[in-house]
Amino acid sequence: MSTFGAAVAIALLAFAIVVLGWWLLFATEGVYLGRRVVVWLYDVFATRYDGIKRFHPEHDHMFLAQPIMQRVAPEKAPYVLDVATGTGRLPAAMLRHVQFAGPILALDASRRMLDVAALKLEGQAGVLLIQSTAEQIPTADGEFDVVTCLEALEFMERPARVARELCRVVRPGGWLLITNRRTGRLMPGKTFTETQLHDLLIECGMQAVAFETWQVDYDLVWAQKQP
Ligand SMILES: C[S@@+](CC[C@H](N)C(=O)[O-])C[C@H]1O[C@@H](n2cnc3c(N)ncnc32)[C@H](O)[C@@H]1O
Repeated sequence: MSTFGAAVAIALLAFAIVVLGWWLLFATEGVYLGRRVVVWLYDVFATRYDGIKRFHPEHDHMFLAQPIMQRVAPEKAPYVLDVATGTGRLPAAMLRHVQFAGPILALDASRRMLDVAALKLEGQAGVLLIQSTAEQIPTADGEFDVVTCLEALEFMERPARVARELCRVVRPGGWLLITNRRTGRLMPGKTFTETQLHDLLIECGMQAVAFETWQVDYDLVWAQKQP
């Protein structure tokens, strides 16, 4: 091989390594490298997470807190579990709802994300933040009126197993709210088609599974546990 050919080959190899590294670490947030890498990345970016996401409190009220309260009505104090709570977006939305008076358990595997959540929710009674993985939720079956898991299933090693675990802790007649990533081609094996997720939730004892367009990347998925 000529010197020029060798230089081109090295440049192509370097380019491929950079693209692969970007895909493994940033595009897919470390999910193909294992849970430790995912959690490490969230630890590293925890203090910048809210700035990157730029949540709109009024949207979260309209699309999350308000529909949850409508589904559990007339109950004003549902017991809510938010799995992979991150910086506490769902608890914050629930606590802003004037009628909500329930307790919230919020868990995440990243200590630093929970630290940011704790600062955000400081002084708010009724929220317990715990460090735990979604794969093994440390509560009994059927404990919660509402279980949520937003923008997180695709970052789990085994999303289907986590979906089953979420269903396990919903009480009969209670509600599940999760997100399904629509742009799944970037993340093979980590996302579901609507049919796959629908069938999985039915198999887990859920009913009334409904998909709702939410954001560019995500649908909201509602389901009710069979009474
Ligand atoms: C994109 S953030 C979503 C956070 C929050 N639900 C929201 O909507 O802003 C994903 C979260 O999942 C958490 N996470 C990733 N894998 C996890 C696992 N196996 N168990 C628990 N949390 C996990 C990360 O630490 C991170 O906080």
